[in-house]
Amino acid sequence: MKILGIETSCDETAAAVVEDGTTILSSVVASQAAVHHPYGGVVPELASRKHIESILPVVNQSLSDAGLNPKDLDGVAVTRGPGLVGALLVGFCFAKSFAYALNIPWVGVDHLKGHLNSVFLEPPTPPFPFVALLASGGHTAIYHVVSHLQAECMGQTLDDAAGEAFDKVAKMLGLGYPGGRVVSEFAEKGNPNAVKFLKAYHDKNSFNFSFSGIKTAVSRYIQSHQERYQDQIADIAAAFQKSVVDVLTYQIIRAAKEKQCFHIALVGGVAANRNLRMRVGEEAVRNNFRLYLPSMALCGDNAAMIAALGYQCLKSANGPIGDISDDVYSRGNRSI
Ligand code: KG4
Ligand code: ZN
Repeated sequence: MKILGIETSCDETAAAVVEDGTTILSSVVASQAAVHHPYGGVVPELASRKHIESILPVVNQSLSDAGLNPKDLDGVAVTRGPGLVGALLVGFCFAKSFAYALNIPWVGVDHLKGHLNSVFLEPPTPPFPFVALLASGGHTAIYHVVSHLQAECMGQTLDDAAGEAFDKVAKMLGLGYPGGRVVSEFAEKGNPNAVKFLKAYHDKNSFNFSFSGIKTAVSRYIQSHQERYQDQIADIAAAFQKSVVDVLTYQIIRAAKEKQCFHIALVGGVAANRNLRMRVGEEAVRNNFRLYLPSMALCGDNAAMIAALGYQCLKSANGPIGDISDDVYSRGNRSI
């Protein structure tokens, strides 16, 4: 089955063709980063307009990269939520119309479940159940994943997402948007012990996170070191990154131990962070766990993960199939 995936939940217009839920025939991601960069964050109205401009060229590119015509497709999968409603609607309405015109099945899928399925697009793939840390610009949570379609949320952020904290710190340091990658590049050149920040919120009795405290600590430091902080950007980035990576690493390992589950995965944009990948990798070896990491291109938002999940929904007798009256949703559920 060849499924066209479409993703427009935030600031990437993406389309991909995936065969049988595992083989990527094409994956196109058009980033809007340049549009939002001057504002230091995503401007929802600009995102919607840019998706409208990009959706058709991106879908056409994904079909031509895969060497396919629309009539070769067996189904369409599209992100239904969570995300920016105006942005979601562009992909969702396009996918509905496209599938109806071709008379093929379509399905609206959950973006977070899409990230959890990103580990099935490259070998080795994890067996079920596995424990996954999903850390992105909009979400940070730990899931016990029992099937392609079902996952229990063990804990999640109480305020900012990890990626959002990276983006806000980048903005404070004048490093632009999106800031995760650039902050981590500075962090690699800095000394995490040169500046002292409190640890990011660490609750040993739950798997919840909070990153607003560390974000405020960075802001206060910058305010009280106005004349000097420009020379300390690498050290500030390194200390901030260590605080975030420490808590993410600690909690995913603790979650796997609690579930007695020896297969763990990192997914979402922040899973591209080299320091996080290394630290969780070291702890996985120490604990005899097996770690599954999507390649960098599959950590951030993409449509291949949406097509992979859509395949599972369309194949499964119990899987939800799209109906013309379906609508998008902006917020996620605890259990997905
Ligand atoms: O999954 P994603 O592309 O979009 C959402 O679903 O939110 O994640 C984007 C987030 C942004 O906040 C970005 O700054 C962060 O992932 N990110 C990183 C890195 N690369 C991207 N954060 C830390 N280190 C990185 N190397
Ligand atoms: Zn995402």
